[in-house]
Amino acid sequence: MHLILVFFFYGIICCSGSHSAYAPMPRLLLVSFDGFRADYLKKYEFPHLQDFIKDGVLVEDITNAFITKTFPNHYSIVTGLYEESHGIVANEMFDAATNKTFSQFNDKDPFWWNEAVPIWVTNQLQENRTSASAMWPGTDVKIHNTTPHFFMKYDSAIGFNERVENIIAWLNSSNPLVSFATLYWEEPDASGHKYGPEDTKNMIGVLKEVDNLIGLLVEKLKASKLWEEINVIITSDHGMAQCSPDRLIKLDDCIDRNSYTLVDKSPVAAILPKNETYVYNMLKNCSAYMKIYLKEEIPDHYHYHHNKRIQPIILVADEGWTIVQNESLSRLGDHGYDNSLRSMHPFLAAHGPAFRKGYRQNSIYTVDIYPMMCHILGLMPQPNNGTLSHAKCLLADQWCINVPEAIGIVIGVFIVLTTLTCLIIIMKSRTASVHPFSRLQLQEDDDDPLIG
Ligand SMILES: *[C@@H]1O[C@H](CO)[C@@H](O)[C@H](O)[C@H]1NC(C)=O
Ligand SMILES: *[C@@H]1O[C@H](CO)[C@@H](O)[C@H](O)[C@H]1NC(C)=O
Ligand SMILES: *[C@@H]1O[C@H](CO)[C@@H](O)[C@H](O)[C@H]1NC(C)=O
Ligand SMILES: *[C@@H]1O[C@H](CO)[C@@H](O)[C@H](O)[C@H]1NC(C)=O
Ligand SMILES: *[C@@H]1O[C@H](CO)[C@@H](O)[C@H](O)[C@H]1NC(C)=O
Ligand SMILES: *[C@@H]1O[C@H](CO)[C@@H](O)[C@H](O)[C@H]1NC(C)=O
Ligand SMILES: *[C@@H]1O[C@H](CO)[C@@H](O)[C@H](O)[C@H]1NC(C)=O
Ligand SMILES: [Zn+2]
Repeated sequence: MHLILVFFFYGIICCSGSHSAYAPMPRLLLVSFDGFRADYLKKYEFPHLQDFIKDGVLVEDITNAFITKTFPNHYSIVTGLYEESHGIVANEMFDAATNKTFSQFNDKDPFWWNEAVPIWVTNQLQENRTSASAMWPGTDVKIHNTTPHFFMKYDSAIGFNERVENIIAWLNSSNPLVSFATLYWEEPDASGHKYGPEDTKNMIGVLKEVDNLIGLLVEKLKASKLWEEINVIITSDHGMAQCSPDRLIKLDDCIDRNSYTLVDKSPVAAILPKNETYVYNMLKNCSAYMKIYLKEEIPDHYHYHHNKRIQPIILVADEGWTIVQNESLSRLGDHGYDNSLRSMHPFLAAHGPAFRKGYRQNSIYTVDIYPMMCHILGLMPQPNNGTLSHAKCLLADQWCINVPEAIGIVIGVFIVLTTLTCLIIIMKSRTASVHPFSRLQLQEDDDDPLIG
């Protein structure tokens, strides 16, 4: 109980001051392993990742942003915004006003990215610090006329080792000192698509490989004496669901493909209709395994409405279903589905001086990561949809309190107050009674030896 009270006051004292002027500049490396579904951590072995977590924090399940695709969620991580607010609303986009298209092979036009300011840009413009990037969607684009000081052009053929060697060299150089860095790797997403997450025979090897890469990263950070100093977040953009040739929705069976443009495909199909009423009517009873929404009907909780890049009609397939025009199934695993599905959720682990040690938390939102990173770096966050207090228990400098602790403190305070009150009452009754009975009491005391 005393310990809890000590923590209580310590918490108040330690959290009221911010970073000391003499503290070294905070540094952060943000790592994404694409498509790392949260429950892989429970179903497979990750000795290196578990070592990393043991001395740091783990958030077991992250509610990401709808649609649960790669580009949109990587941009939500670094902006703290829902997709409708940061503008990267899909991996494939069309802007009617400018006739521009976006895809993962045609993503370099800043037009698509400029609706938000990612943290690597804020880091450089707000505090004149240096950012570095060994890949991450958008880091090789001049967003608000700024790229990270050090960056690599995206190339999936460049191996993990080369990416890590670059990032270590950049973090190790002191002029300029890099304070924020990103690192991106395509697995386990690529294999998740190829085999499907239920193919444990193949996924076991892929995930073992991912764990070895984490081991390699930690080893290199240790060898360069960066390990104790640098904060490292390892997270992901989305999970993966098992698909099947038995779960195909063929749009050609319901509607003539010339009556609309298919801007984005499965599992959230973005439809630009020639005649909205006609297309809606033809598709509304096409399949029991997909939902159809006019743009204005998209449920509020998706936060997927207020952007002109969201098309007039979207189709959302049920978990594990694939929407095609007439093709056969091309991938056994997919993501993009409803962001309330557990299979779509990634995880987050973190280690370093800014984080508590050995702490586990059930969940946060993807948009909460951004205000947490800004807090660590001492940056003023841009307007965003995240909540720092959701992540405060992960942070060493925040006072975090859970229910048992809260009950302990309430009981502790109650006991202290009761004790004080009793003492005061006793003292008062004593002082009040001292004079009339003082002699009597003395006499009683005198009798004691006789009783004994
Ligand atoms: C829009 O761009 C496409 C190619 O992406 C082109 O074929 C078409 O003519 C363009 N339309 C207009 C109105 O510029
Ligand atoms: C920002 O830092 C660079 C060196 O890294 C320096 O040359 C420049 O003058 C600084 N700009 C401001 C506005 O402080
Ligand atoms: C890091 O930099 C120091 C000098 O600043 C150098 O001695 C060391 O070899 C470097 N380590 C790596 C891994 O580059
Ligand atoms: C659009 O389709 C509806 C229903 O098929 C039809 O009543 C309407 O006339 C069409 N509008 C145009 C402009 O073609
Ligand atoms: C068609 O779909 C609508 C809603 O999408 C539903 O209310 C209606 O019952 C369906 N009609 C048939 C014939 O399935
Ligand atoms: C799909 O439709 C296109 C266009 O109608 C056609 O050329 C193609 O042969 C069809 N493919 C299959 C597998 O039915
Ligand atoms: C998300 O944040 C942006 C920027 O502050 C704001 O414009 C938008 O309304 C927010 N969205 C929601 C659903 O609160
Ligand atoms: Zn992805």
